Amino acid sequence: MTTVKIRAVKGLTGGLELPGDKSISHRYAMLAALAEGTSELKNFAAARDCHSTLGCMKALGAEVKVDGTTVKVTGSGLRGLKSSWRTLDAENSGTTIRLLSGILSGQEFTTKITGDSSLQMRPMKRVVGPLRQMGADIRAKDDNFPPLEIRGGKLSAIQYEMPMASAQVKSAVLLAGLYADGETQVTEPAKTRDHTELALAEFGARVETRGRTVTIQGMAGKNDGASLKAQMLDVPGDLSSAVFFIAAASLLPESNLYIGNVGLNPTRSAILDFFKGMGAALSVLNLSGKQGELVGDLAVKGATLKGGLISGELVPLLIDELPMLAALGPFTERGIEIRDAGELRVKESDRIAALAENLKRMGATVEERPDGLRVEGRSAGKLHGAEIEPHGDHRIAMAFAVAGLAADGETLIRDADCAGVSYPRFFEELRRLGEK
Ligand code: S3P
Repeated sequence: MTTVKIRAVKGLTGGLELPGDKSISHRYAMLAALAEGTSELKNFAAARDCHSTLGCMKALGAEVKVDGTTVKVTGSGLRGLKSSWRTLDAENSGTTIRLLSGILSGQEFTTKITGDSSLQMRPMKRVVGPLRQMGADIRAKDDNFPPLEIRGGKLSAIQYEMPMASAQVKSAVLLAGLYADGETQVTEPAKTRDHTELALAEFGARVETRGRTVTIQGMAGKNDGASLKAQMLDVPGDLSSAVFFIAAASLLPESNLYIGNVGLNPTRSAILDFFKGMGAALSVLNLSGKQGELVGDLAVKGATLKGGLISGELVPLLIDELPMLAALGPFTERGIEIRDAGELRVKESDRIAALAENLKRMGATVEERPDGLRVEGRSAGKLHGAEIEPHGDHRIAMAFAVAGLAADGETLIRDADCAGVSYPRFFEELRRLGEK
C-alpha cells in the first residue's frame, strides 16, 4: 500500500492528455469480442477496471492483444464465446460484472463471475431481476451479491421500466436484448450515459432512442444470422478523470491548464455546465465527432467558485463527479449540497460516508444525510492537511488529493494505488502539472 504526500501548490500549468474513457472502453471491448473479425481499439483506457473486462473476454475465448494503449480484440461472432472453466474475475469493476451479466445471459453455457471484496458487497439484484425476466437462470449470494452463477440460453424480449437511473442496468438489458427474439425496450426514469447505445450502433446493431426509451432489435429468432462487425475505433479521453484536473486548476489561482481530446458526450458533460455555473474559467475548444461520441479540448484557469446544489435529474448525469464536487465544497463561496444521491452509498465505497469522514478530517463542516451531504463553504474556515482514508475507492483518493493541493500543510493519501482502478498515472500527472 503506497501513501502519497500532497503539498499546497499555487497552480496547475501545462498540457494534459487523458487515458481513454473507462465507460466507452468497457463497451468497445465487450462488443468487439461479440463481433466477427478483429477490432482495433486505440487510446483504450489504462484503467485497471477496463483491463478486468479484457481479462474476462479473453477467458470467454476472444483473442486479446494489448500493445500500449492499442488493443486488438478478435471475436467469432455473437455465438462465438466459449464457456470458461474458471470463475471470471471482474475485480473492482461494477461495469464489468453488470454489463457482462447481460451478455452471459444469452450464452448456451453456465458462467461464474465474481470480484474483489468491495465488488462482493455491491447489489446485483438490479440486473439479475430483469435478466431473469428475459429467461436467464441466475444465482447470487443472498440473491443479490457476487459471486453470480449465470446459466444463459434462449431469451425473450421484454419491456423494462427501470426503477432506478443506472446506465449499467440499462446496458445489461440491452446487451441481453441482442440475444432475444424480437424488440427489447428499456425505459429509464432519468437520462443516463448512452455509450452502450452508441457503441451498439457502431458495431451494427439496430438501436433506437426515443426520449427515455431505448429499443434494440434482437439478433435471434427471425433475425438469426444477423451479426456485429469488427470496427476500428478511437476512444476519447475520460472526462470523469479530467474533472479532478478541472477542479484542481479552478481552485488554484495561478493555473493555466490545457486538456486535449476529451470525450464530451452530452450525457456526461453536465459537469462542465455545473463548473461554468459556479464561475469556473473553463472553455471548450475544437469540438468534433468521433464514432457518435463528441470530443473536444478544454482550457481551464483559476477562478472563484460559487458552490451550488446537485439534486434530481442532475444526479445521474454527474454521478461519478460527486466526490470531487463535495471535496471542493469547503473552497467555494456557498458550499456544496448533494441531494437524491442515495446511489452513492453503493459505489466502490459508501461514498457519502467516505466523503463526510475525510472532509471532517481536513476540518470541513459537513452534515451527512441518507441521500447526500451538505458541505459548508469558505466562511466555515480553511481546510488543513490530514491523513485520508479512501476505503479502496479511486475517486475518493483522487478527490482528496485535489483538496490537499489547496489546504494548509501536508495531506497524506493512504492506499493511493487504488487510483489505478481508473487512472494509474494520476499522481504523476498531478505532480508534473503542479511543478513550476
Ligand atoms: C457506469 C455507470 C454508472 C457509473 C459507473 C460507470 C457505466 O454506474 O457510476 O462509474 O459505465 O455504465 P450506475 O449504472 O450504477 O449508475
